[in-house]
Order: sequence, then structure tokens, then C-alpha cells
Amino acid sequence: MKKKYQIVTYGCQMNVHESEKIAGILEEMGYERTEGEDADVIVFNTCCIRENAENHAFGNIGALKKRKKERPELLICVGGCMMQEKGMPEELKRKFPFVDIVFGTHNLWELRRLIEIKSSGRKKMLVSIHDKEGEIVEGERPCRTSYPNAWVNINYGCNNFCTYCIVPYVRGRERSRKPEAILEEVRSLVAEGYKEITLLGQNVNSYGKDLENGITVPKLLDQVASIEGKFRVRFMTSHPKDFSEELVKVIAKHEKICNLVHLPVQSGSNAVLKAMNRRYTREEYLEKVAMLKRYLPDAELTSDLIVGFPGETEADFEDTLSLVKEVGFASAFTFVYSKRKGTKAAEMENQIPEDVQKRRIMELVALVNSLTRVKSERYLGKTVEILCEDYDEKKGMFLGRDVYGRMGYFKSEKNPIGSFVTLKITEASGISLYGEEV
Ligand code: SAH
Ligand code: SF4
Ligand code: F3S
Repeated sequence: MKKKYQIVTYGCQMNVHESEKIAGILEEMGYERTEGEDADVIVFNTCCIRENAENHAFGNIGALKKRKKERPELLICVGGCMMQEKGMPEELKRKFPFVDIVFGTHNLWELRRLIEIKSSGRKKMLVSIHDKEGEIVEGERPCRTSYPNAWVNINYGCNNFCTYCIVPYVRGRERSRKPEAILEEVRSLVAEGYKEITLLGQNVNSYGKDLENGITVPKLLDQVASIEGKFRVRFMTSHPKDFSEELVKVIAKHEKICNLVHLPVQSGSNAVLKAMNRRYTREEYLEKVAMLKRYLPDAELTSDLIVGFPGETEADFEDTLSLVKEVGFASAFTFVYSKRKGTKAAEMENQIPEDVQKRRIMELVALVNSLTRVKSERYLGKTVEILCEDYDEKKGMFLGRDVYGRMGYFKSEKNPIGSFVTLKITEASGISLYGEEV
């Protein structure tokens, strides 16, 4: 019988994709995936962007204590962003001495070797963390789990140091993959039948700056979208300060590139944006949105928003609400500011009390949801093309997304997963659409 593995993933798309790489390593070692309690290896791929992400991971690792006692041969591995935090491996050792292997974001390709060492009888916890990012490792074969969508890394790390954010500390400095490696990967994904390619980076707009061969994200997107075949191209995340006219022109040039831009604004207040070190003003952000709409009147935007940043006044918060209304985001991720040790904002005065943060997040969520609902209702009676990606057992319906990322459900006799389907929308409920195939 084959040995089994389970991967528990927290955090962003970067981590979701890195879990696919971890799965690739484990499958190559002969393990097969399980979601049950019969795993021989469990890997936690952690996130530390907000305190609650860490608490979830701690809770789930702690819950394995009993199982590990009953089955000492079970291998528990903990990796990801949290393990790159100063002092975290030591804390993990104290709290959960039964963990077998600790690794970081800069050395997940080492996992095979670490498992081999640990399996050869080593008793003590094995900790391998690289403090600095090394060269980009190519040639990994991810075991993809999201057909017909595929994630493709274009750059790693972040140099922006937004004052609230821990990512630059745990993911290191910006490094770009060579364009040839990216294009090669996309070509083979398209040949394998993937229909949606999402280019990934903490700030895709700084892609190429470290390569000295003149490559930029607009040039790369142009080349990716020029690959033959019917597929969609998305990219995330764009930092507004680097969101350029050249990039918008490339989006406009190619049918394949979705007219949806994830452009996290974080706040609508200039004072807060400055304190966050975002390096754009409200006015500059709105000007970028206007520029996008000049080229692509039907383009939509999504965003990330933070409330309760240190020093955020009621007036600052109102500025965020008014900006959200003015842009009319198709949807947005909304977060309560979470203090991260080692970041500048953690040391700032005027931390906002929890009750104020709670009230503000509820108000913001209500506004974002109402905008999303209004946009959904506009779909009624229209036809949209969706890429079918899954089957919802509970609803007994297939589902997929349109170019704007809006989810559409429908019934079908055959299995349309992986194909483009045109739906006539008959019902809009909150963020979801329902329709019939035409
Ligand atoms: N590189 C991307 C995303 C980084 S993390 C970007 O710059 O847009 C995703 C989102 O988490 C951020 O956009 C931000 O809204 C949120 N975030 C980051 N640090 C946070 C913190 N300390 N508290 C609350 N939200 C945070
Ligand atoms: Fe964090 Fe800012 Fe970098 Fe995004 S751009 S990862 S929010 S530091
Ligand atoms: Fe992503 Fe969380 Fe790391 S958001 S980059 S997994 S800290």
C-alpha cells in the first residue's frame, strides 16, 4: 500500500501554489493524497499575515498531539511564512515538541531530503530555515489541484515594506523568474489543457527590475497572451504605485487578458496611506482607475481594504467608504488591521480599540456587499461566458467564473469541467449567479 500525505494550507494564492509544489515533491517520493485521518505525513503550510491566521495554524497543529502519541511514525511537518518569523521555530518547539520537521519559504525544495533524514531514525525535531532568499529553484513539478486554472509564479518576495505588512520579512527581497522559464511553463500548461493562467507575485508590477534584460510585466503579459490557444490570463497582485499605462494598453490589446484588475488600495485616506508607506495618494489611485476606464470602459476592479490602522480617525474611515463608492469595486477583501511584530506600524501610537475596528469593518463589509449585489443584479437576463471549474455536490450544479471572477451555477447533463460555457443568467443571489446553458 502506498503511503499517504495531507497538506493543510493557510494564506494567499502564493501558498496555495506552493502547496501544489509540496504535493509534487511528495508524489514523486511515492506518497498519495488523502483528506482523511490515514495520512502518514501531514504538512502545514502556514501564513502569518494576520494574527488569526497564526492562531488557526497553532490550533490545528496542537490538535494532532494525541494522534502523534498513538502513531509515533506519523510525520508532522510545518513550513511556510510563519516559520520565517524571528523566534517562531523556537516557539513551535516549546509549544509542540512533537513536530518532526520545520522548514521555511526559501527552502521548500529541501523537503524531500528533510523527510528522508527524519525517516532514517532521527529522534529530535529537524529545523531547517534559510534566513535569506537564495537563487530561484526551477524544475519543480507541481502537482496541480485547481484544473482548469493554473498558477504560475513570475516573481517572489517584496521590497515595498508597507508599514503594516510582514511579507517582506518572511518572503525576502524581490526576485524575478526568467521570462523563458515562465513562457515555457505557460506553453506546456496550455498544451495540457489548462484554460486559465494566473501569473503570481506579491507585486507583479516590479517584475523584471532585477533581471537587467529589459523585460517588464507588460512585455511578459504580451508574450504570454500571444501563445496560441483559447485560455484566459490573469495576474495578481498589482501595486497601484507601479500600475502603468503601458500595462493597461497590453490588457486592452489582448482578448485573453481578463478585464479585471486586482488593485489593492488599502485605505481612501491620504494620511493613512502615507502612514502605511503605500507611496500613492487617493487622487493618484483614482487617476489610475480613470486611466484604466479610458482604455477599457468595461473593466472592473477588485481591492484589498484595511480598517483600524493605527491613527485612523473617523474622517479617515469615511474617506475609505467614499473611495469604495466612487470606484465601485466589483468585490473586495476587507481586513481588520492586525499588529505584526517587527513591522513599523506595530510600534505606532494610537492603536485603534477593538470595538471601533469591529464597527468599522462591519460598516465596510455592508457597503462592499451592497455594491457586489447591485453588480450581480445587472447580470439578469444577460448571457455570459464562464469557464466551468467544478461541481457543487450540495447544489447539484456545475460552477465556473466569468472574466470578472463572478461565480455562475448551472445544470448540465454532460461534464463540462474545463470548458467554456455560455449561460443565460436567470437568477442573481448575492455574489452568485444562476443560469441556463445556451
Ligand atoms: N502583495 C499584495 C498582497 C499582500 S497580503 C499587495 O500588496 O497587495 C494581502 C492583503 O492582506 C494586503 O493587501 C492587505 O490588505 C492585507 N494585510 C497585510 N498585512 C496586514 C495586517 N497586518 N493586518 C491586516 N491586513 C493586512
Ligand atoms: Fe505587503 Fe505591501 Fe509588499 Fe503587498 S506590497 S506584500 S502589502 S509590503
Ligand atoms: Fe501569503 Fe500569508 Fe505568506 S498572505 S505570502 S501566506 S504571510
